Amino acid sequence: MRMMQRRLEPELMNGDKQVQAYAAADFSSGDQATIEAIQRLLSRTSPLPPDPLVVDLGCGPGNITLRLAGLLPKARIIGIDGAESMLAVARERAQQQQLEISFLCQTLQEVLEGPLLGQADLIVSNSLLHHLHQPDLLWMVTRDLAAPGCRSLHRDLRRPASDAEIQQLLLKHLPSAPEVLQHDFAASLAAALEPQEVFAELHRLDLHQLTVSAEDDRYLVVSGLVKS
Ligand SMILES: C[S@@+](CC[C@H](N)C(=O)[O-])C[C@H]1O[C@@H](n2cnc3c(N)ncnc32)[C@H](O)[C@@H]1O
Repeated sequence: MRMMQRRLEPELMNGDKQVQAYAAADFSSGDQATIEAIQRLLSRTSPLPPDPLVVDLGCGPGNITLRLAGLLPKARIIGIDGAESMLAVARERAQQQQLEISFLCQTLQEVLEGPLLGQADLIVSNSLLHHLHQPDLLWMVTRDLAAPGCRSLHRDLRRPASDAEIQQLLLKHLPSAPEVLQHDFAASLAAALEPQEVFAELHRLDLHQLTVSAEDDRYLVVSGLVKS
């Protein structure tokens, strides 16, 4: 079947209204699915070091970062996002929950030139890949941040084969949501990657231990060891 062309979205989410709407939305079931996928990855790989460095890329308001702090209380956790207004929400939430998390305002492009290279034991992202205009940047950052033994999990939407399929997913999952949310969901699906596109990039970058799998009717998950 012919693939539908990707339609890009803006990368950073830094408009005040957009940040408020995102922070107020309930993504708890998707967030929980990502945390459970991380737990499964951790249970099938060797134990993490006693004080692992964990990096959440494109952390937004900290949905996953805060949960990671609960899951791995001994870890040093860093959330990174290019949008300062998202990080302001994340910092406030961490403070309210008395969690020690560092939040860095950096784009993925900047992370590639920063001080964390070769340091991370676990690298995750949730709902980031579909924003990236140059998606292989996520795999380059993952590769370059990884310490030996590092593992990684990235979960996001995957692109349907057609606009008709996007409409079917909308009807199935958001039949009575406000129009703005339906519009955002459709735009994100159209901006997402297909598993075979991700697979080709991982292969090109020699990240052969990361696997790509399709999850239910709209997600893809990339997970595994980054570096032995
Ligand atoms: C849909 S939100 C996901 C937020 C969070 N990970 C979650 O699960 O709720 C995507 C986030 O990625 C950030 N982002 C997009 N492109 C980026 C880039 N090139 N560098 C850093 N952050 C980026 C956006 O600013 C936004 O906060």
